[in-house]
Amino acid sequence: MQVLKIQGLTVDFSTKAGIHHVLKNVDLSIGKGEIVGLIGESGSGKSTLAMTVLDLNSRNRIVSGSIRFMDEELMTLDKEKIRKIRGSHIGFVPQSSMNALNPLMRVKRQFVETIKSHTDMPLQQMVELIARTLAMVSIDPARGDSFFYEFSGGQRQRLMIALSMLLSPELIIADEPTTALDATVQSKIIDLLKNMVLQKHTSMLVISHDLHTISRVCDRIYIMYAGKIVETGTREEILTRPRHPYTQKLLSSRLSLMAEPVKVNGIPGNPPSVLKEYFGCSFLERCDRASLVCKTEKPPECIGNVKVACHFEGES
Ligand SMILES: Nc1ncnc2c1ncn2[C@@H]1O[C@H](COP(=O)(O)OP(=O)(O)OP(=O)(O)O)[C@@H](O)[C@H]1O
Ligand SMILES: [Mg+2]
Repeated sequence: MQVLKIQGLTVDFSTKAGIHHVLKNVDLSIGKGEIVGLIGESGSGKSTLAMTVLDLNSRNRIVSGSIRFMDEELMTLDKEKIRKIRGSHIGFVPQSSMNALNPLMRVKRQFVETIKSHTDMPLQQMVELIARTLAMVSIDPARGDSFFYEFSGGQRQRLMIALSMLLSPELIIADEPTTALDATVQSKIIDLLKNMVLQKHTSMLVISHDLHTISRVCDRIYIMYAGKIVETGTREEILTRPRHPYTQKLLSSRLSLMAEPVKVNGIPGNPPSVLKEYFGCSFLERCDRASLVCKTEKPPECIGNVKVACHFEGES
């Protein structure tokens, strides 16, 4: 069964500068127990996808398409029902979340408030659940009375992960869970996410700009470029047989896949502006393979059997 099934998701924002075309006909699905990666560079629309699923960005938003969560269409649900799903059925680790916690709040209080806002759990049961969940992320439950500022960045990120898993949601969305952490801590957080998914029997969408760091835990990966999915496949397919020129460049932008990051060689050029509508391929200006057809015709959409949105790749 699909836990999340997004089809034809298109998101624009109306701004003073004009319409921002952010997501374009995105299809993405997550099966039960799957860890799915959504990878793309800064500004490609990854957080917008997460926030749209959770309905946290409705201001000035123009949206179309379908978002089904556990067979329920989220696009037509009222705000209160979505709020109930958020937190108890879909856990969220927002981007920069370790800095988003109120530093002057005690850990236990934040956790109690989260439980109370979704359940009528008796106090003793709450205390036990919090202790169990803190132990799962290797934080001593005795530190429940500490303030968030008393923890390191890596510990705060683990606290956020614990918070998102507290009520055993069917899906966790983790937006850049390892960014801003050093390489060793990144690696520990990735392992922790994987263990939590296994222990809690949940599914996960993990969002990152860093294919190399995140791919290790993903079963399947979606590559996003300028608001479109340009390639999708299993981890093995993406890492060993990348077919879209963008995925190929992402992979070769580090010296070695297996080695610790040494130096990131960026992909020259910039993604197109969100204000611009494209007739051909949006990767055109940065692509070594581009030819006239890429300028005049839209590449195939990454939908159904089509795994690569490139004129030079047939159906898989
Ligand atoms: N509410 C909004 N109003 C107008 N534009 C928006 C809004 N939200 C996002 N955007 C635009 O959508 C684009 C994608 O933003 P988004 O935050 O989804 O990117 P991202 O892939 O998560 O990037 P990063 O890796 O830097 O976090 C950006 O150009 C951003 O300015
Ligand atoms: Mg983001």
